[in-house]
Amino acid sequence: MLRDDFLWGGAVAAHQVEGAYDEDGKGLSVVDVLTAGSHSVPRRITDGVQPGEVYPNHWAIDAYHRFEEDIELFAQMGFKALRTSIDWSRIYPQGDDDQPNEAGLAFYDRVFDCMRAHGIEPVVTLVHFEIPLHLAKEYGGWGNRQLIDRFERYATTCFERYHQKVTYWMTFNEINNQYNFRNELYGWTNSGVRFSQAADPERLMYQAAHYEFVASARAVMAAHRIDPALKVGCMVAANPVYPFSCHPDDALLAMDAQHDTLFFSDLQCRGYYPGYARKLFERRGWDMDITARDLDELAAGTVDYLGYSYYLSNTIDHAAGPADGYDPIACSDPRMVDNPFVPSTDWGWRIDPKGLRYMMKLFDERYALPQFIVENGIGLVEELNAAGTVEDDARIAYLRAHIEQMERAVDEDGVDLMGYLVWGCIDPVSYSTGEMKKRYGFIYVDVNDDGSGTGDRFKKKSFDWYRKVIQSNGKDLA
Ligand code: BG6
Repeated sequence: MLRDDFLWGGAVAAHQVEGAYDEDGKGLSVVDVLTAGSHSVPRRITDGVQPGEVYPNHWAIDAYHRFEEDIELFAQMGFKALRTSIDWSRIYPQGDDDQPNEAGLAFYDRVFDCMRAHGIEPVVTLVHFEIPLHLAKEYGGWGNRQLIDRFERYATTCFERYHQKVTYWMTFNEINNQYNFRNELYGWTNSGVRFSQAADPERLMYQAAHYEFVASARAVMAAHRIDPALKVGCMVAANPVYPFSCHPDDALLAMDAQHDTLFFSDLQCRGYYPGYARKLFERRGWDMDITARDLDELAAGTVDYLGYSYYLSNTIDHAAGPADGYDPIACSDPRMVDNPFVPSTDWGWRIDPKGLRYMMKLFDERYALPQFIVENGIGLVEELNAAGTVEDDARIAYLRAHIEQMERAVDEDGVDLMGYLVWGCIDPVSYSTGEMKKRYGFIYVDVNDDGSGTGDRFKKKSFDWYRKVIQSNGKDLA
């Protein structure tokens, strides 16, 4: 049985819903220079905002002006919690400003007050890909140790301002995406770095991640100092990696490949470098900037809970590529192959509900920490019908199957689970493609890829379905 205070709800991120990219003193962030893409066209990073380019995050779904209407709809579904992020570039527009931007702080006061007025618990990510562009361009992003202090100040400002309104926090969203350092988008949005321009992108990825781990640990300590009631989690993208066959090389390779998630959760949940990482640094001959003080802080600032997203699983086959089990093995690795037992979405994301239970068990056995599923959902091509709704049975089927597995992990495996949040509970701009066409919500938003549309909100079929799920605390999934 799920606990009585189980946090059912949904999740979005500031840059994917707010729009208003240059209002009330907001600075540019790294996503403000990302062009529109699609499944086959990668988003590009432009040098500042360029005329003639299309930047979907500049308008998103205009939640900056419509958040009250949206929160009212979430309340109708019975949400207990809503996850969003604070956009760092609204609070410290350049990242290194002397003073925070009061208009930005006041905006989030209004957002959190509105949630509380509806009995909705805010769950807040400090960095969901919204690093001030100035820090990326002038400091080299998280490749620079100075960002630890900049972030600590930003985090402290947020804790001091909102600690009576926000109890649940997370530091860096999907901090492990950048493990796939050959993908330019991930490095840019995780860390504000261009790995393709680095002399040794792999080393830079580990160095940037290290500075983020230290920054995250300092934020945990600051939060507890400011208000011992605050709970701070990490956030990783949890993707199981299965061996393609029972060949021992596949099994070993899958273990190594799983470090794409576990390296990041190990550091933040356990607070020390695992042997496999220390050996990798040794083999590479890297002189990493990791000080004794850093190691003390990592140990002292472990997280209160493990937050993660779950969408899909991966499968690896040693025979499909070069034999080197010691490289970081990311999803771009040629040895990552199709799994004949699981179907995929239109965007090639493998639909695998049991993979969620697999990760829940793996995390529980490794860390024995409270867990929080802070993203799960499916992106679908959808259109409003004549009745002004969307018959999104495919979404209902996807969520039902995942909730069933989640409940088994709690009931049968003993996982300590705090809550479950559906990603993109109102259609957001897609992170990876910048599309509106890839829709996730219980609520349809009339905005098209080019920003046209009325912006009006419409309830999909899943809206009532999820209301019943929440009302029955997960018993009524019909
Ligand atoms: C996660 C991110 O990667 O998955 C979200 O935390 C993102 O920001 C979500 O939107 C779904 O991905 P996408 O690319 O389909 O929007």
